[in-house]
Amino acid sequence: MKLSIADIKAYFNEEESPFIEIFDSIDSTSNEAKRAIERGLASEAIFVSHHQTAGRGRHGKSFYSPGESGLYFSIVLHPEISLEKSVMLTVAAAVATREVIEAQTKKHPMIKWVNDIFIDNKKVCGILAEAINDYEKGIIKSAVIGIGINITTKDFPDELDGIASSLGEEINRNETVALIFKRLKEICDQLENNKDFIDEYRKYSLAIGKTVSFKRNGVDHKAKAVDVSDNGELLVITEGGEEILLNSGEISIKL
Ligand code: BTN
Repeated sequence: MKLSIADIKAYFNEEESPFIEIFDSIDSTSNEAKRAIERGLASEAIFVSHHQTAGRGRHGKSFYSPGESGLYFSIVLHPEISLEKSVMLTVAAAVATREVIEAQTKKHPMIKWVNDIFIDNKKVCGILAEAINDYEKGIIKSAVIGIGINITTKDFPDELDGIASSLGEEINRNETVALIFKRLKEICDQLENNKDFIDEYRKYSLAIGKTVSFKRNGVDHKAKAVDVSDNGELLVITEGGEEILLNSGEISIKL
């Protein structure tokens, strides 16, 4: 399904419609979003591309973004939230994306802490949330939430073998982009008052109840993941009984 500005806009009232730009190919939709913010973009926006030549993932990794078989887009919001709460954007983005993928595919997507979406224990979607901060006011000036969904991608590079997969079916991409934007904005507008989305995050967490491995201060640890805090941290209990709240980094889950 070809991306179309008119088809995305059809999901919005005129006054709530964000600025939308579509590319056949671009380095990274999140880079483009940041360039637009630097040029003075003040409205909410969606930058979407069929292909990325330099897709970026978390922790400085690249995100494999082949043409046609995936959907790559970045949402720009300007939520007036404090810098400490910025991790909640990541949680909100995972919840919104999971819901829409489930509704469109009728499959059972799960969230791997912090914000990878998995189906049948393989990663089908990655999310990179970045904030441009106003340190004087102590708030986020703009948030760029980049979402990459493998729709029908079959051949992944060797390093993603056995880790990445795709939805395995076509979806209405214009609808995906519009519905994820709308749901994410709805959660962000209520971020301080309505914590239901965190319960939803817990419900679909792939980590809770499982043994996870992670590195902390250069040391390898194994622990049981038991909960996600209201601030989006993963609570784990080590084999020695120590409780640790993880707030960043990567975990591996023994599935
Ligand atoms: C990850 O898996 O570590 C996060 C991947 C995020 C990929 C998306 S694709 C759209 C946007 N543009 C990028 O360069 N990255 C994000």
